[in-house]
Amino acid sequence: DKGNYRHFMAKEIHEQAEVVGRTLAHYVNFSSERVELPIELPFDFKDLKRLSISACGTAYLAGLIAKYWFERLARIPVEIDVASEFRYREAPLEPGSLALFVSQSGETADTLASLRYATSEKQHTLSVVNVPTSTMARESSVVAPTLAGVEVGVASTKAFTCQLTVLLSLAIAAGRARGTLSADDEKELVNALIAVPGQMTEAMKREHQIEVLSRELSKAKDVLYLGRGTSYPLAMEGALKLKEISYIHAEGYAAGELKHGPIALIDETMPVIVIAPYDNIFEKTVSNMQEVAARGGRIILITDERGALEASLDTMATIVMPSVHPIVAPLINAVPIQLLAYHTAVFMGKDVDQPRNLAKSVTVE
Ligand code: F6R
Repeated sequence: DKGNYRHFMAKEIHEQAEVVGRTLAHYVNFSSERVELPIELPFDFKDLKRLSISACGTAYLAGLIAKYWFERLARIPVEIDVASEFRYREAPLEPGSLALFVSQSGETADTLASLRYATSEKQHTLSVVNVPTSTMARESSVVAPTLAGVEVGVASTKAFTCQLTVLLSLAIAAGRARGTLSADDEKELVNALIAVPGQMTEAMKREHQIEVLSRELSKAKDVLYLGRGTSYPLAMEGALKLKEISYIHAEGYAAGELKHGPIALIDETMPVIVIAPYDNIFEKTVSNMQEVAARGGRIILITDERGALEASLDTMATIVMPSVHPIVAPLINAVPIQLLAYHTAVFMGKDVDQPRNLAKSVTVE
């Protein structure tokens, strides 16, 4: 049931504050301000030398964001690969290590094959899945559920932000277990997470601005998305969303890679979407934006209040998100990139819930 929405995708984007809140309530104790995992882990994070993550598509990009979190908060070296590569590359895995999988459906053929490979290599397997009855849920040593509810739209939206919620909770738990995160740090991060649903609701208020902007975007042949840190995987997610439902060619790049190639593409016809919350690498991204502006590129900046103030440069549009703790910024900035893809595709008359050539669950490789 689409409720009052035109498409499942719109409904699912708007549901995010609620389902992220529900997922959060499962992993976090609001009164002690600590992560309390609802699952029994058959390993101790403090014994891990390495973590390997594999997944496909949007779930892979959630994993890539989690790499930054696990490395920063828990100081665990993380290896991440798309599952279609991981399953065949015969990566050497030390028995007793942890392999983590992320999947909405729990049925994706390549991710499932990677899980089976990890099992055969005597890894502990931890799967973040949305469908509790799925094959991956059954075959993993432990399941960390996302509580996004049924996701109907082929383009993943609410499952993605719920995956991020679970992955950040796990990274915090790992940081505590490994002694890399103090009790005060944990409280600060947990409170940042608790604030997310409200901030997502706030972020939704930019929808009208984004809808107007999407008319411009619909004229583009190519769109470039840039970001640094956790905004880099989010830039790739923005590009993936746009291309899969609007069929506009889009690429996501680490902003620092701009001058190593993609800058050659920039001209007056090319929108460049920059995701840059005000954080420790903000200034670096601003220099990249100046390089884009100097070549006539049309910038759409997704930032927060402080970033909008400090950027002081000509943009085609600036989408101002609420100011949030930098660690949770990808959860909030997911909202405008989803809305931008959605409205662009709707404006172009595309079938956003059933894009051509795509299936909700890819059970063949
Ligand atoms: C993109 C999208 C796909 C899926 C991918 C993995 O919007 O939905 O890229 O994320 O096919 O699917 P799951 O998460 O079911 O393993």
